[in-house]
Amino acid sequence: VATEMYLERAAVVELAAIEDHAFHKLLDTAQYGASSARRMIMYGTRVVNAMISLITAAGVLTVLHPALLPLLITMTIPSAWGALTNARRRYESFHTWVQHARAGHLISALLTEPEAAPEIRVHGVGPFLLRHYRAMSETAEEEQARLARLAARTGLIAAAWTGLATVATYATLGGLLLSGAMALSVAGTAVIAIRSGSTSLNTLVLEINTLHEEALFVGDLERLYVEAAERAIPVGGDPLPDDPREIRFENVTFAYPSDHPGDAVRRPALDDVTLTLPLGRIVALVGENGSGKTTLVKLLAGLYQPDRGRILWDGVDAARADRQRLAERIAMVAQDFKRWPFTAKVNVAVGRSSAPLTDERLAASVTEAGAEEVVEDLPRGLDTLLARNFSGGHELSGGQWQRLGIARAAYRRGHILIVDEPTAALDARAELEVFEKIRALAGNGQTVVLITHRLASVRHADLVHVLDQGRVVESGTPDELLANGGVYAELYALQANQFTAKPPVRKAG
Ligand SMILES: Nc1ncnc2c1ncn2[C@@H]1O[C@H](COP(=O)(O)OP(=O)(O)OP(=O)(O)O)[C@@H](O)[C@H]1O
Ligand SMILES: [Mg+2]
Repeated sequence: VATEMYLERAAVVELAAIEDHAFHKLLDTAQYGASSARRMIMYGTRVVNAMISLITAAGVLTVLHPALLPLLITMTIPSAWGALTNARRRYESFHTWVQHARAGHLISALLTEPEAAPEIRVHGVGPFLLRHYRAMSETAEEEQARLARLAARTGLIAAAWTGLATVATYATLGGLLLSGAMALSVAGTAVIAIRSGSTSLNTLVLEINTLHEEALFVGDLERLYVEAAERAIPVGGDPLPDDPREIRFENVTFAYPSDHPGDAVRRPALDDVTLTLPLGRIVALVGENGSGKTTLVKLLAGLYQPDRGRILWDGVDAARADRQRLAERIAMVAQDFKRWPFTAKVNVAVGRSSAPLTDERLAASVTEAGAEEVVEDLPRGLDTLLARNFSGGHELSGGQWQRLGIARAAYRRGHILIVDEPTAALDARAELEVFEKIRALAGNGQTVVLITHRLASVRHADLVHVLDQGRVVESGTPDELLANGGVYAELYALQANQFTAKPPVRKAG
């Protein structure tokens, strides 16, 4: 249950939280909390057990002679102190090194995963990664050695102290015996009681100590629950208009949270952006790499919130709107859309997993995306597993994946379709086909927000916004922009020239 709660909460926090390294660290440490919680029950029982036997032994000792009980306690305090000190240190070290451990796992996973395998072999990345792995293991080992040295020192102090206390205890017992204050039979019983008492006291200390160590991890889990609740996507909010006419960005500024506060202030990814996205049309976003196109559509989809400015859906501020409902309306083929390691069918139907899966809807979306051939070529059609490192798994080519990604967005049937570089991996024929379909969708009143570097495909857009370094530099219909001779016209001419330019004349012979 604890693990499920952990996963449930992690899945609903804001994207910014998941990308935040501090939150990620908490996610890392808290994952041990669930199993710790389970083990705490076991250790709890053991603590109670040890306590019962300790009380029994202490009772016997008190009856035999009042001086014996304090001596027993003095014998056990050092090991309690030693164990607690070491547990604290281990926990602190774990916290300091958890990121390091994660990086180590990441590198070792890179060495075995199929995605990295080709470059490891062709570019010879293997030795490089191994070198890093070794260096990281060595630092981790140094830390273990440091902990071991400290533990040895603490252990030595504790053991010396216990030894002295033991000598004192038995000396007292001998003194009592010699002075005739205690009968031999009673002293014998006392020895047995001291031994059993110190054993149960030691057990008690050890178990309490383990309990304490596990509790620290459960504490992390609880901290995660609290923090995840604070950073969760808000539930509820203003309703969005049923059939809005336009979405307006008003002076929207957004910067990705900078990881290091000391770093030079970075240029915001979006800088005072004001633009309109009329609904029921094709709106294209163009601009050079890193100009902020993907960031803009992520804000549109509610994945990030603007630092300044507003995003208005016909006057309703998206920041106060019901985020769940907002997401309901959006279908997205992200630039780095997820290739789910499931069957082809699931890869399409996850577009709306809340709706019952029907064959008609599935077939319609596959057709809409022009992915029929992709599916036909699969050994088991839509039921083919698309995870090649599992038995029966199959791998698609980049373009084939892209078509499935488009089919997924079509399956979702959102009011606003965001397509970020939908054709980057498509062949020329497929590209034309996909744009044809996108145009048809817009004809049916579907809003399409299209991001592409293929400016020829932008010609059919109703409105084009040109971004440059996070700012909107031009807006208008493709023809207007061409006539204006700005950035768009320049990029357009660059691409067009590639086709019209004459190939260099080769000298014969
Ligand atoms: N998750 C992120 N965290 C931090 N910075 C980011 C993140 N994503 C993008 N950026 C930065 O924001 C800026 C805009 O990136 P964005 O992805 O919006 O560009 P783009 O116009 O989509 O580019 P491309 O054409 O290459 O896809 C870039 O400078 C990039 O480095
Ligand atoms: Mg992008």
